[in-house]
Amino acid sequence: MSHIYIRDIGAHVGEDITVKGWLYHRRSSGRLRFLVVRDGTGTIQATVFKGEVSEAVFEQSDHIPLESSLIVHGTVRADQRAPGGYELSVRDLELVQAAEEYPITPKDHGVGFLMQHRHLWLRSSRQQACLRVRAEVIRACRDFFDGRGFILLDAPILTPNACEGTTTLFETDYFGEKAYLTQSGQLYVEAGAMAFGKVYCFGPTFRAEQSKTRRHLMEFWMIEPEVAYADLDEIMALAEDLVVEVVARVLERCREPLQTLERDMAPLEAVQHPFPRLSYDQALDILQQHGEHVPWGEDFGSGHETVLSSQFDRPLLVHRYPSQCKAFYMKPDPQRPEVALCVDVLAPEGYGEIIGGGQRLDDLALLQQRIREHGLSEAAFQWYTDLRRYGSVPHAGFGMGIERVVAWLCGLQHVRETIPFPRMLEQMYP
Ligand code: 4AD
Ligand code: MG
Repeated sequence: MSHIYIRDIGAHVGEDITVKGWLYHRRSSGRLRFLVVRDGTGTIQATVFKGEVSEAVFEQSDHIPLESSLIVHGTVRADQRAPGGYELSVRDLELVQAAEEYPITPKDHGVGFLMQHRHLWLRSSRQQACLRVRAEVIRACRDFFDGRGFILLDAPILTPNACEGTTTLFETDYFGEKAYLTQSGQLYVEAGAMAFGKVYCFGPTFRAEQSKTRRHLMEFWMIEPEVAYADLDEIMALAEDLVVEVVARVLERCREPLQTLERDMAPLEAVQHPFPRLSYDQALDILQQHGEHVPWGEDFGSGHETVLSSQFDRPLLVHRYPSQCKAFYMKPDPQRPEVALCVDVLAPEGYGEIIGGGQRLDDLALLQQRIREHGLSEAAFQWYTDLRRYGSVPHAGFGMGIERVVAWLCGLQHVRETIPFPRMLEQMYP
């Protein structure tokens, strides 16, 4: 008989079944041995009763090291006292591999130690909870865009272009030419939007961030929609819709992982339309009232974002930052050319920026000027400026960082637990 996944065990009460997994926890009491087995879909307590199994199995069951792989045959019983409501009365056990002494024990380990053992740490219930939320966030984003007629258009990872400034580039040699690991798929989805109207890309992006913060990874995943003929208002509405839908989906489908993480769900339930909106100038005023003086023209730091977002119970949209502190491709506001038609979405509870985007420069001459001013290679951007030569239209888009969103939804202190194998300033192992 094929084996049963623990998640589905409730449908097999009274039946003889097989579970394949790993030993999570073990204890004994007299003639009874309790083996908690996990298989990735859940955990089940397997009860070994002297006399119901062979003497050899009974003996062995008291010595199986933690995280050994094992196959358990037994009968499913409903039991109110068992965690999860079911347990397995063991008939037979097969040890697949007896594990060496497992380095992660129930005692408190430092994060550094756990990160060095990330390949094993993934087995813990907290880490599984974070990564389940991540998987659902990604699925919700895909469903959102697929359901609205966006075409998935994958952007390259090796690129000649610096999209987000030249200070965070990972450079590599491309058969004698300089190439970079992409910082953003934006430039390519702009080309895609001119071909398909509405597109999005989803993939890993890379930034050689020199600072060690709880929000920055060297490698992170971004979902980036781009829409032809859209303006700033339309793209802000799209960003708001996306965030509302992703949060609702996680609340609907990730109750269990959120409970495992002891996440207070009330603040997430408050994430409803409409989101508050502030211009950069209005945001400066609020900061001023809280004793934070930011000179006009400077970008906000994470402390400023925390002050701003803590004024509201739901995500905040800050628009029209000074062009001087933003990327080269931002369109100036025709009413006020010193500010850009851009938006950042700041998550509540101090999580800060989760989305950045806006309307793109669609004028060829100004775009060329900006490329020069930012010290970028005109040759490398030739193809990109072509988009302004052949049927240029107003267009807008944004990028949402998956890890920032997952950190917020899970209520985590640091983005390092939101991705299976984080790449950080001082860590590239495992
Ligand atoms: O604001 P950013 O730099 O915007 C762009 O890259 C645009 N080209 C996107 C676009 O318009 N298509 O980055 C977008 C988002 C941020 O809001 C943040 O959520 C995330 O990407 N992000 C990071 N996440 C983790 N680690 C880092 N080092 C990040 N840098 C940005
Ligand atoms: Mg940004």
